[in-house]
Amino acid sequence: MASGVEERVRGEVRGEEDDRPQLSAAAAEALREFLLEQGRDGGEEGEEGGGGVELVAEDWRLSQFWYDERTARALAEEVARLVSLSGPASSAAVACVACPTLYTYLKTSSPDVTAQLLEYDVRFGQYGGDFTFYDYNQPEELPAAMKHAYRIVVADPPYLSKECLEKVAKTVSFLAHPEGSFLLLLTGEVQRDRAFELLNVRPCGFKPQHSNKLGNEFRLFTNYDPEDRLGGWEQNDGATV
Ligand SMILES: C[S@@+](CC[C@H](N)C(=O)[O-])C[C@H]1O[C@@H](n2cnc3c(N)ncnc32)[C@H](O)[C@@H]1O
Repeated sequence: MASGVEERVRGEVRGEEDDRPQLSAAAAEALREFLLEQGRDGGEEGEEGGGGVELVAEDWRLSQFWYDERTARALAEEVARLVSLSGPASSAAVACVACPTLYTYLKTSSPDVTAQLLEYDVRFGQYGGDFTFYDYNQPEELPAAMKHAYRIVVADPPYLSKECLEKVAKTVSFLAHPEGSFLLLLTGEVQRDRAFELLNVRPCGFKPQHSNKLGNEFRLFTNYDPEDRLGGWEQNDGATV
């Protein structure tokens, strides 16, 4: 069973879709062990993310690659800081677009923060009213109440394609507050120039990592300079636009 599963997963992550994040060989091996372990435990149910936060198991068909604990904590800390800069927690809402691990860590470390998780995977319906079904293919098909309602928007698009980033950028514009929002975009280094063009974001020194190591280099891009946090904006970031 294990070799069949591994083959399927390798096919999925390396195969037909080039814009999908790629697993390194070590990660593929880790996945094989994980799936074996999961098979032994009987399942798909929630697993414990380090730090005691309940996460669902990654579904790689949905391009799900969860942050490691260090990354999730660093992002949650930064978002909580941005909330405190933006006024009372209730008025500085956070939109987590396709980044459920961040949502989970944020609500665990800062339960008073108002945060909405926009996600395609309906398993996150477990978060009740904080969950909104979201398909990037319909980037603005969202409740009217969410329009321009978020002072902080964090997005981690499922694919590394131009089309996916363009559509997620539309969602970000839909969600962002008319007086300005802090934007954090997590995606591959390969999207650097496109991310700058579409969203005016620049790469930070901080390198996001995933529980299962990916072959692609991932970056955190922001529309503000976090200065002494998250490595600050990379100097001479080399954007060609
Ligand atoms: C690269 S992962 C980002 C997850 C992030 N690293 C984390 O740990 O929270 C991309 C996310 O996009 C979601 N996704 C998959 N297909 C989607 C779609 N059609 N529209 C919107 N989101 C989708 C996945 O469920 C997944 O949570």
